Amino acid sequence: LTPKLLADKKILITAGATMEMLDPVRGITNISSGKMGFALAKVATQMGAEVTLVYGHATASRPQVRHAYYAGTAHDMYQSVMQHIADQEVFIGVAAVADYSPLVSSDQKIKKSEQTLTIELKKNKDILADVASLPNPPYCVGFAAETERVLEYARQKRLDKKIPLIVANRANLALGSDNNSVILIDATGDYPLDTADKTTIAAKILTHLKHQLN
Ligand code: C5P
Repeated sequence: LTPKLLADKKILITAGATMEMLDPVRGITNISSGKMGFALAKVATQMGAEVTLVYGHATASRPQVRHAYYAGTAHDMYQSVMQHIADQEVFIGVAAVADYSPLVSSDQKIKKSEQTLTIELKKNKDILADVASLPNPPYCVGFAAETERVLEYARQKRLDKKIPLIVANRANLALGSDNNSVILIDATGDYPLDTADKTTIAAKILTHLKHQLN
């Protein structure tokens, strides 16, 4: 059914949400379900790619792929991606990686008191931007989930992270949903895709990127 468009291509995909631990039982996370990244991993595998999946917290069920590694925090995800990035031809950063994590993570459960509790956050490293700036980078695809000025922010993100292709979508419609409505943005222009289930969207993204490869 699916043409083997990506036969033997090595593709690393991140998926799901990270959780930045405050203490052993609590963390800061987001509402990513993992569905979009898992759909890309599944369809890329069906298209013949050798997929490596680095996944965080997800409610969706994970597809069978050649290599899968769990990474629960932004730090772990960074390490795992960098460990597996050599020889990859494509990197697709779909994971909703936390931009910040707690400056200190308590070894013991934080006890409540009558005081206000303040959490200090430090900026996390940008996995996608760092992969894109490797000496011989894979073809990099990013996602931009925005609640406003979607196109403008996505275009800027593509330039800031120095990646060839970004997938723009509305965060409130995309995250956790079975469907997605996206616009692909690359150096040649904007390509809006019809609203569809994430498997269909994944096939269209992969077909688009295949045509940009070599
Ligand atoms: O800058 P922003 O977080 O909106 O960018 C989203 C894109 O960057 C997604 O493709 C996401 O997977 C990636 N990203 C990343 N590492 C981070 C933050 C975002 O790879 N620390």
